[in-house]
Amino acid sequence: MKVLLLGSGGREHAIFWKLSQSPLLTSLDVFPGNGGFPENQIIKEAGLSLSDMEGLAAFVKNRGYDFVFVGPEQPLVDGVADALKNICPVFGPDRYAAQLEGSKDFSKSFMEKYRIPAAHSRTFTDYNEAKDYLQTKSLPIVIKADGLAAGKGVTVAETHEQAEQALKESLIDHKFGNSGNRVLIEDFMKGIEASVFALCDGKKALPFIAAKDHKRAFDNDLGPNTGGMGAFAPVSFMTDEVMKKVQEEVLDRVMEGMQKEGHPYRGLLYAGLMVDGGIPRVVEFNVRFGDPETQPLMRLLDEDLLDLSFKAAKGELPDIKLKFKDEAALVVVLAAEGYPDEYKKNILLKDIDRVQGDIIFFHAGTLRDGENLISSGGRILGITATGKDPVQARENVYSFMKNLNIEGTFYRKDIAEREI
Ligand code: GLY
Repeated sequence: MKVLLLGSGGREHAIFWKLSQSPLLTSLDVFPGNGGFPENQIIKEAGLSLSDMEGLAAFVKNRGYDFVFVGPEQPLVDGVADALKNICPVFGPDRYAAQLEGSKDFSKSFMEKYRIPAAHSRTFTDYNEAKDYLQTKSLPIVIKADGLAAGKGVTVAETHEQAEQALKESLIDHKFGNSGNRVLIEDFMKGIEASVFALCDGKKALPFIAAKDHKRAFDNDLGPNTGGMGAFAPVSFMTDEVMKKVQEEVLDRVMEGMQKEGHPYRGLLYAGLMVDGGIPRVVEFNVRFGDPETQPLMRLLDEDLLDLSFKAAKGELPDIKLKFKDEAALVVVLAAEGYPDEYKKNILLKDIDRVQGDIIFFHAGTLRDGENLISSGGRILGITATGKDPVQARENVYSFMKNLNIEGTFYRKDIAEREI
């Protein structure tokens, strides 16, 4: 099978690693890729862009791809699955279904309509009305920009001043552009967060084991929110009983709801959950694999990802329980100093191409500059390891990382610590 993978992050590098193991593969290209992908598999086509749907469709058709695997959310929200659907199977939902991530307001209405457990919220476009409503609410309170905001559109406000500031930034200062023209004020949910991903074929959803992300920049969950600084799987509090609830009350209801809406959901569904006393509720949906959670999950998945994602795209997933290695896996993200705000760029990355036993690097913000590998993004690399349990996986990653001295970078030292 001739496959094109779209995307350029650690998520896509991990997916590429896994797809590459499939006996069904005849060739695998990536666009736009990063410094971690083999040069001869990166598409370098002048004018090709992830935001130009017509151009992408023509390219996919001309090159005769059998399957397109979409990594990031933006092209899905922009309708890439619709643009390619008459050319070849595409892994990723259509534009309508992608609103589950593209519009928090849409997502909330959908959850209400199909009885998916989540926090109560109200949507506002007017700053003064939003402020008045705020006065009636207790703290903490959550303020969410409606549209995509690169993981920065959510504020958990501890005070009314913080909440008002978040409303102002979104509705008056337009910090998130059009994405912040509507704002949700949502009740705070307490509990512990977990991520559950599922392969979906329009009718059924096959869940992965749960993973746990670490969103804050610094140890002990301090500092600003990031795209994710580390993750591990499996997660002990996501017991069979909790996962059964996730399946029945979340995943199956999305499948049923999207079928009723006339847009069967195909691709990857990411349920960001808050779990309290064994009860899971949805914080948000994403319509693609999460990053960095995908990195440890790919290391544990004991299935042919190409076979299953292709079947998902065609609406033909088998009725199986996905198999995973009976181990744990963990990723620690190496980030550029300053991230997630203004961060250092062009950091020279030395010695990281060496394979180190069980350690695998997945590249995120890297690029090749002649012989050199340099950083090009805030999250630079995901360093992954496995182990018989999270303690072992954690020891394996950190014993390697203590010898990794790359000036101008930082990483969290407490990934999975609480779990252990
Ligand atoms: N790790 C969070 C995300 O992928 O959205």
